[in-house]
Amino acid sequence: MTIRLASLVLAAAGTFAALPASAQFAKTEDAIHYRQSAMFLQSQHFGRIAAMANGRVPFDAAAAQANADLVATISKLPWAGFAPGTEGGKAKPEIWKEQAKFKELSDKLQAETEKLASAAKGGNLDAIKAQVAQTGDTCKACHDTFRSR
Ligand code: HEC
Repeated sequence: MTIRLASLVLAAAGTFAALPASAQFAKTEDAIHYRQSAMFLQSQHFGRIAAMANGRVPFDAAAAQANADLVATISKLPWAGFAPGTEGGKAKPEIWKEQAKFKELSDKLQAETEKLASAAKGGNLDAIKAQVAQTGDTCKACHDTFRSR
């Protein structure tokens, strides 16, 4: 039993070793689905704070904080999905040619969402509004450069 399990694990490891281009993903489509899913979740939770910042929904400090914490966490996720050899989706091929610039923008997003989480924790709506704008500008800067359509 133990031996059988070990050989299954080895077989699985072998499968991954044969696919270095897609890192921890079994297929390119999985990497694309992963990063698009992370982006989608991020936009849902960011949208809930943005709606408060824009006055479209009443300000709720606890909800703002919960959503900002989620955005800060989720903003760490999409990048693993842009593994080498996973060109596709709406990701422009430039991502894989200008890795330093792409990383700079993904690092900036994570820094801005950390600041958003701090602002939300502080509970000051004006500070939250300012940081929602900074964060939204960072989303846009990357999409303008590295996302098609
Ligand atoms: C460093 C670059 C970068 C940053 C920053 C960034 N995105 Fe994206 N985003 C992308 C790329 C590239 C795609 C296209 C991915 C694909 O289709 O493979 C994308 C796709 C999306 C999508 C579409 C997902 C789908 O279902 O196809 C949404 C929604 C989105 N981003 C929201 C956001 C929000 C909201 C932020 C800011 C909080 C953000 N993004 C920040 C690069 C970025």
